[in-house]
Amino acid sequence: MHRVLVPGTFDPITLGHLDVIRRASGMFDEVVVGVAASTNKRGGTLFTLNERIDLAREVTAEFENVEVMGFDNLLVDFAASIDVTAVVKGLRATTDFEYEFQMAMLNFRLAPELETFFVMSSPDYMYVSSSIAKELASMHGSTEGIVPPLVGEALAKRLGK
Ligand code: PNS
Repeated sequence: MHRVLVPGTFDPITLGHLDVIRRASGMFDEVVVGVAASTNKRGGTLFTLNERIDLAREVTAEFENVEVMGFDNLLVDFAASIDVTAVVKGLRATTDFEYEFQMAMLNFRLAPELETFFVMSSPDYMYVSSSIAKELASMHGSTEGIVPPLVGEALAKRLGK
């Protein structure tokens, strides 16, 4: 039985995140999408933890082996508490690599038994990020192809002037 964790801030969840979750759900028995409180993120988050969890739940509802949970502790501690054996993260480009490499090394030091897998982003989502979705929405740009429609509506509601 392989149960894995796909962690992130998901502020908000994008089609790039969904692609990683969909591929993880095809490869592993159970997938937990872990939404980090990320309270120390610079500038804070646009959506509250509960809002980010709700959006992630709604857009992953179609995957039977995916569940969404929030966490506000260390990733390695959360992973141990929910019995996952590995973390799955998406990699878009070399710009992601340095940060993800640092996190993977740190997590390895803290919990060597917890494996980290990287999934290369599909070329369609290489440039997609929560930040560009927020910037587009704040300037009335279309977020089609960047976030699921439901998330686009939530962004427009929160940021549309
Ligand atoms: O979507 P993000 O912001 O790239 O996700 C980063 C995340 C949430 C995976 C990372 O910040 C994280 O693991 N947060 C939990 C706290 C933790 O373990 N931090 C690492 C040691 S300081």
